[in-house]
Amino acid sequence: MTVRQKFFLLMFLLFAFQLLSATPLAEQFKRTGYAEICNSNPTAATFDSLYAYFDEFIAFLQTNPVWAQKLYRAKERFIRSKDRNYYSTDFFGFYDESENEGRSQVSFYYSPHFHEFINSHYPEFNKVPEITRFLEACLAIQKPYGNLFNDAAVKLGLDTIFSSTYNRPPILFKVVKYLPSYVNTRPHYDGSAFSLFLDSTDNQSLLLSPYKSSFTVEDFSPPQREFSNSILLIPGGLLTEFSIYPTPHIVLPSGKTRYATVAFAMRPHYPPQKIEFSPLPDFKH
Ligand SMILES: [Fe+2]
Repeated sequence: MTVRQKFFLLMFLLFAFQLLSATPLAEQFKRTGYAEICNSNPTAATFDSLYAYFDEFIAFLQTNPVWAQKLYRAKERFIRSKDRNYYSTDFFGFYDESENEGRSQVSFYYSPHFHEFINSHYPEFNKVPEITRFLEACLAIQKPYGNLFNDAAVKLGLDTIFSSTYNRPPILFKVVKYLPSYVNTRPHYDGSAFSLFLDSTDNQSLLLSPYKSSFTVEDFSPPQREFSNSILLIPGGLLTEFSIYPTPHIVLPSGKTRYATVAFAMRPHYPPQKIEFSPLPDFKH
C-alpha cells in the first residue's frame, strides 16, 4: 500500500469511527428526545441547600427593592460588555414573576462571567450574605457540567461548536421556583444548544416529546428514568444546521411549590436565527 493509500484509508477509518460514535446520542435524541445520564454528584442535599439560599436571596431582593434595581442595572451593563457575546443571549440575573398571573415563578439566570462582572463592578454586593451565598452556591454547582456538554458535542461529531477563546462552553445556569398558582398550558423549545435538567423537587411535572413534524397533547409524557438521581440531556433549538431538532417540554402545574435547576449550553458568538419549529399543542383542551 502506498503512503497515499494509507493516508486515505486512515482518513476513511477516522470518518467511519466518527459516524459510528456519533450515531447513538443523535439516535437517542430522535427516538426519545433525551439522554439520561447517571449522576449522583452534586447530591440532592446540595440542591436542597441551593433552594434554601435561593429563598433567602428572593426574600432579600423582594424586601430590598433598591438592591433588586442595582442587580438589574448590573445585568443591563453586563449585556453591553463583550463577555455577553460569548453566551449569545440577554438572559441573565433575576426575574421576579411572582405577581404575574399564571407565570407565578421566580428565576435566576447565573453565568460565571456575570458573577465576575458583579464582583469587579459592584463590590458592595459582597457585603450582603443573602446574595453572596446564593451566587457562590451557583458557581460551585455549575462548574462540572462544562465537560459533560463538551462530551455531548464530541459524541454528536460537533467538536468545534463550543471552541472559543474561553476553554469551556458558555453555561447559563437557571434556578427557578414555581409558586402554587403557576399555570402553563403550552410546551416550549429551549433557545440553547443543549439543556440539562439537573434537579427538581417534582420530576413528574416535566413532560417532553421527541421532535416531530406535528404534535398532540398525547405525545408528551414524563421521561422514563432508569436511575432515581439521574440528569437529563435534551437538544435545544440552536443545532438545526446539524439536523438536530429541539425537544419540546412543559412543566405542568401541580398546585405546589416546585424548585428546579437547569444548565443551558449556549453557542459562542452565535447570530440570532429565525427558525420555525413545529407548532406545539395547547394542554387546556
Ligand atoms: Fe425549557
